[in-house]
Amino acid sequence: MAYLLFQILLIVFAVLAIYWELQLFVCDGAPFLVSSNETSDHAQTLLDIKPNENVYDLGCGNCATLLRFRNKVPKANYIGIDQSPFAQIAAKLNIFTHKANKNVRIEKGDFMSINVSNADKIYVWLSPVIMPKLYTKLKKELKQGTKVVSCDFPFENEIPAKIVETNSKGMFGKRLYLYIF
Ligand SMILES: C[S@@+](CC[C@H](N)C(=O)[O-])C[C@H]1O[C@@H](n2cnc3c(N)ncnc32)[C@H](O)[C@@H]1O
Repeated sequence: MAYLLFQILLIVFAVLAIYWELQLFVCDGAPFLVSSNETSDHAQTLLDIKPNENVYDLGCGNCATLLRFRNKVPKANYIGIDQSPFAQIAAKLNIFTHKANKNVRIEKGDFMSINVSNADKIYVWLSPVIMPKLYTKLKKELKQGTKVVSCDFPFENEIPAKIVETNSKGMFGKRLYLYIF
């Protein structure tokens, strides 16, 4: 009986996860994928993170990218934002297993409605649909000189300070765009 209940719960969880990701894909086009180590390392080089800086990953997924940044610069403050409950659970577990909860935290919700004006560095890997709206938000909020690295999708109306080809295998994470606001 307990086994049957467990299986039912597992199926409900799987259906909810698929529903949530499909909904995100249809609405925003930014499903729960994780940047490769190669892509994250190139992004870190472009961002040039310094101790005590506030580093955001908008749409952080399981926070793997921020945790990788933290390996190289342990003394910065890392903030991930994600609206998917599954990403939030994965991120919390990941932060816990890395014993990183002193300077890596996750904020739950839509990053479009969370103020990020204290950011020094921002990493995003989203979708072409979100980029124009995100650009308007960042243009209003960010202080001068904030560095933003976008994976795969550029801001249409802004010339990047640098473009890097990552040589990452697979379909995604091929190109990084650095913007200095
Ligand atoms: C392609 S994944 C990137 C994950 C992570 N940044 C990485 O590079 O490994 C995109 C993530 O953005 C999240 N996302 C999309 N739109 C969002 C929004 N408006 N607010 C918060 N999270 C969002 C999705 O839930 C998904 O986890």
